[in-house]
Amino acid sequence: MVAKSMEQLVSLCKRRGFIFQNSDIYGGLQGVYDYGPLGVELKNNLKAAWWRSMVYERDDIEGLDSAILTNQKVLHYSGHEDTFSDPMTDCRKCKGRFRADHIKDGKCPNCGSVDLTDPRPFNLMFKTNIGPVDDGANFGYLRPETAQAIFTQFKNVVDSTSRKLPFGIAQIGKSFRNEITPRNFIFRVREFEQAELEYFVAPGEDEKWHEIWKEERVKWWENQGLKRENINIYTTPKNDLAHYAKACYDIEYQFPHGMEELEGIANRTDYDLGNHTKAQDEMNLTSNCHKNPDSTQKLCISDDNNKWVIPFVIEPSMGVDRGVLAVMTEAYTEEDLGEGNSRIVLKLKKHLAPIKVAVIPLKKNNEQIMSKCKEIKNNLLKLGIGRVALENTGNIGKAYRRHDEVGTPLCITVDFETIEQYPESVTIRDRDTMKQTRVNVADLKDYLRNYFAE
Ligand code: GAP
Repeated sequence: MVAKSMEQLVSLCKRRGFIFQNSDIYGGLQGVYDYGPLGVELKNNLKAAWWRSMVYERDDIEGLDSAILTNQKVLHYSGHEDTFSDPMTDCRKCKGRFRADHIKDGKCPNCGSVDLTDPRPFNLMFKTNIGPVDDGANFGYLRPETAQAIFTQFKNVVDSTSRKLPFGIAQIGKSFRNEITPRNFIFRVREFEQAELEYFVAPGEDEKWHEIWKEERVKWWENQGLKRENINIYTTPKNDLAHYAKACYDIEYQFPHGMEELEGIANRTDYDLGNHTKAQDEMNLTSNCHKNPDSTQKLCISDDNNKWVIPFVIEPSMGVDRGVLAVMTEAYTEEDLGEGNSRIVLKLKKHLAPIKVAVIPLKKNNEQIMSKCKEIKNNLLKLGIGRVALENTGNIGKAYRRHDEVGTPLCITVDFETIEQYPESVTIRDRDTMKQTRVNVADLKDYLRNYFAE
């Protein structure tokens, strides 16, 4: 069962410190959010899971971390200056501005007026002045996708790693789009993170790899806890494809506001490397490219027959923020405990949980118990499992409830038995079953190592 409403998630996110409105004390900045103490852990864990599956577990993918500020020429030759726009419509009555495809029955979504302008293109890129002279000539863009630097650095990566086809370059980082109508919490925002893979293949092998990556990525999302029945694969119709794509699958998820795109998997052909390549006429390209007198490189690679080719690209591109929203939606559960009691529990996969273990003293400010708690925490940190939190609230019931809500898989309680009896032991409470198990302190490390290795 998924979360009942976006309001429940937004409320949990604020109450427990996952996500806050940016510039909140000044009334907020629309379409921009900040990740709080637990949100940053969850987001980092999701990114680490993606990086591990792409770069560490495979032997055909390299990583990259490129700059956000981008040379205007890159986004000119990529086609974004000309075509990266949404059609926008203004309401003449309330002065609201909307994406034309968000208008239903020809009425303003804000005031219901039918006095609307014809749709016109609105470029989504953030333009910014670069350097001390603001004369309109020295400008660049905040990147609208992380992908372009993977294309422009293609030759440097190939030359420095001696890669052969097929291989990929992976990158996680911020992207910026001046969305006309940001909405649905962190679903559609103006500043967001993407995790993108550009997987380079021999021309002619692209369709096979497009299918392979679609399957891989659905499996990965299932490993992050999303149920298959809440995922849909949408094949983008030809007339709706991005300017660079020959085909695209969207992995959609059943968000609280509806089934919507979580990740796109596009076949970008040789469009991008071709566009950024000098002397295109010599390269046998399939795509229609801008003529490029500015590039200094041919972005090609030697194939099995020692022939220089411009590879095709398959691109799985996930929105990290939409990923956070999806795993939280899936994990959010309200449980009826009987006799008028209930609890909210975030049943996150343990590798995603912001806090892995909470160490809780049965009694507040008891020196002996606290010092045992600290010793246990420091020992567990050495396991490298992630954040281990130390509590000193003295209210065990409240602490369990709080850790259920933020998805902490295990709570360890240190009580008087721990310090007074031999061998020393603690109770471990499981978030999902609420079962408590007595474990010797000497066995704790092995217990947790096995638990988190599963
Ligand atoms: N490089 C390809 C690309 O950027 P896209 O479909 O425009 O393709 C990829 O974006 C993913 O980035 C989307 O599936 C979505 O998860 C995320 N994304 C795009 N725009 C977003 C926005 N305004 N807010 C949050 N996430 C966004």
